[in-house]
Amino acid sequence: MSWHDAAQVLLDRSGLKPRVGVVLGSGLGPVADALEDATVIPYEDLPGFPQPGVEGHAGRAVAGQIGGVPVVAFQGRAHLYEGVDLDQISTPVRALRAAGAEILVVTNAAGSLRADLGPGRLMLIEDHINLTGVNLLTGPNDDELGTRFPSLRDAYDPQLIAEMRLAARDIGVDVGQGVYLAVTGPSFETPAEIRAFHTLGAEAVGMSTVHETTVARHCGLRVAAVSAITNFAEGMSDEPVTHEQTLRDAARATGDLAPLITRFVERLGG
Ligand code: HPA
Repeated sequence: MSWHDAAQVLLDRSGLKPRVGVVLGSGLGPVADALEDATVIPYEDLPGFPQPGVEGHAGRAVAGQIGGVPVVAFQGRAHLYEGVDLDQISTPVRALRAAGAEILVVTNAAGSLRADLGPGRLMLIEDHINLTGVNLLTGPNDDELGTRFPSLRDAYDPQLIAEMRLAARDIGVDVGQGVYLAVTGPSFETPAEIRAFHTLGAEAVGMSTVHETTVARHCGLRVAAVSAITNFAEGMSDEPVTHEQTLRDAARATGDLAPLITRFVERLGG
C-alpha cells in the first residue's frame, strides 16, 4: 500500500515521528512557517500523494517541531473537483497514521452562512454534512486500517475542540464554532443552494475536509478542524464569490490561523 511507503519516506527524510499532522487548505500554506528545524519533502517524493494543480497549492510536506511536539504539515491537497483518484485524498491521511501520528488538524477556506462570522474569521468545525455524494471508504474495507462501518459521532473530537478554544483564548482570538457542509465544486453554490444549506443547519460551506476527516476517523486518528472564512456564501453579500477573492481573504485569515495552530500544538506538548 502506497501509504506505508509514503510513511517510510516521511520518517526517513525528517528523522522524526510525527504526533500531529496538519492539512493546510487553499492559501493557508504559510502556517507551515511556524515549524522549527523544518524538513521539506515534495509530494513527488511521496508515493500516492497528489501532484497539485490549483493555484495556492504548494504540494509539499513540511516536517518539524512546534514547542517540542513533532508535526508534519501538508501544504496542498487533492479535491474531488480536480477529478482525482480518490486515493490521493486518503493516502496523506493514512500515511500520517502509519507514521505514528495520533491527531489530524484539518484546515480549509470556507464561505460563511452566518452573518456574524465574516471574512477573515476562523470557525472551529464541530460537525459536518457531506453533500459531495461520495464517501471515500466505499469499496473493499481494509480491516487492518479500521472497521467497515466507522462511527462519525464526535468526528471532530470534543476534547480537541475544547483545546482549540483554550488556544484561541491564549492568543486573544475570537473563534466561531459550527457545522461545515461540503460540496464537490468546482462551481460555487447558487444562492438557492445556500438558502437550502442554511435550512439544513450549515454554517460554513467548502469543497474539502469531510473526506479527510472520514478517512482519519476510520484509521483511528483524532480530528480537529478549522475553517478560515474567506467570504460570505453566495447570495449573502453584494460581491459575487470568486477564487481570487477567496485567496485574498485566506491570506487575511491565515494571520490568526498560524498562531492558533501553533498554540494548540504547544498546549498538547504540555
Ligand atoms: N463555497 C465553497 N467553497 C468555498 C467557498 C464558498 O463560498 N469559499 C471558500 N471555499
